[in-house]
Amino acid sequence: MHTAVWHNKNSMKITVIENIASLINVERNFSRRLRQSGSELDKCSQVDDAYLIVKDDKIVSFGKMRDIDNDLSRYKESELEREDAGGGFVMSAFCDSHTHIVFPHTREKEFGERLAGMSYEQIAANGGGILNSAKSLNDISDEQIIKASLKRLNDVLRTGTGTIEIKSGYGLTSDNEIRLLRIIKELKRHTPVTIKSTFLGAHAFPAEYKNNRDYYVNIILHDMIPRVAEEKLAEYVDVFCERGFFSVGQAEKIFDEAVKYGLIPRIHANQLSHSGAIDIAIKKHCISADHLEEMTEKEILSLAASDTIATLLPGCAFFMDTHFPNAKALINAGATVALASDYNPGTSPSGNMLFMIALACIKMKMTPVQALMAATINGAAALGISDRKGSIAENKCADIIITNPMSELGYLAYSYTENVINRVMLAGKWVV
Ligand code: NIG
Ligand code: FE
Repeated sequence: MHTAVWHNKNSMKITVIENIASLINVERNFSRRLRQSGSELDKCSQVDDAYLIVKDDKIVSFGKMRDIDNDLSRYKESELEREDAGGGFVMSAFCDSHTHIVFPHTREKEFGERLAGMSYEQIAANGGGILNSAKSLNDISDEQIIKASLKRLNDVLRTGTGTIEIKSGYGLTSDNEIRLLRIIKELKRHTPVTIKSTFLGAHAFPAEYKNNRDYYVNIILHDMIPRVAEEKLAEYVDVFCERGFFSVGQAEKIFDEAVKYGLIPRIHANQLSHSGAIDIAIKKHCISADHLEEMTEKEILSLAASDTIATLLPGCAFFMDTHFPNAKALINAGATVALASDYNPGTSPSGNMLFMIALACIKMKMTPVQALMAATINGAAALGISDRKGSIAENKCADIIITNPMSELGYLAYSYTENVINRVMLAGKWVV
């Protein structure tokens, strides 16, 4: 497990990765292509038989193996650290833009209840689900949560995740929400994975506010949001806008207030029902609307016409055995589609982005290229960092994956139980 404090400033070598079977999603004249919408999702330039050069934490150049000597002539051999990709593919590390990986305990007991026929909503209404997690937060120390979260981060790193968004949302009191966000902040010091943090106080209503929901919304508005902003604990604010959870009106109020404090909105939309959350996402300029299992034709068109990214979470549809979002309709309409894991103890207990890519292909009929773009450049866009991450371009962060040898990109999705990730480099350092 990575327990060291990262970000040391020692001068670094120049790393040359040679014998890359195919370098994926390269941007030659890097023109700040910040997202790939609609049919652009099929655009993925590849350089076969390639090399890549990394200096410090950045990609400096790449090309065909036949040109490597020419490129390397500007460096001294003693400066170089050579890595043979051995016929593996090289691509950007995954940007998982939606997770809840900081949680107190796993919930396999509820999984059993669901298998026996109870619905997620019934379990939640009986005090299970998110409330169950929030309750047990009081019985566990920060150290235990940090240790368990680092283990999860290390697991997702090994399957290629280089950037991850993490939400609070299992606190549901001001103190516990702040506590979770401080833990997320602390995690940043102990992992090479880039972490973006999101305040999700509006994840569920605590039992004591069951009959006075607006009271809890007022706590979010007037206590939680100011405290989160004061300590600069989150970049984003999220709302679980859903039947039985937060209403459209409550989401609107929370976004309006959070924006005053500089937080950027994102939303859980239409997971279980047509909640009106898509309209609010667009109206409030959410950077991303996530889930989208339920969508009308009209909602698909309006999402496509907006700047809001449509983030699909196929792990959740798989684990909940519900139908999958209509990815193809979104892509055909011109929307920007991203893929994320939704790693959480209730509805998606996996952060394996390779599996999300396989599900996107098998269950949503995306092509392997589309799924990969959605899990890299568009995931980065959903976190506002696609100018630095999510593709192979000069000056972009050296957050890259080397796969095992493969004959074509589709092998990523085809070989869906194999960890095809051989090595991972983040910010120019080998971490796997
Ligand atoms: O994205 N939908 C709300 N939040 C999670 C579920 C969290 C939980 O059940 O613990 C989700 O599916
Ligand atoms: Fe979620």
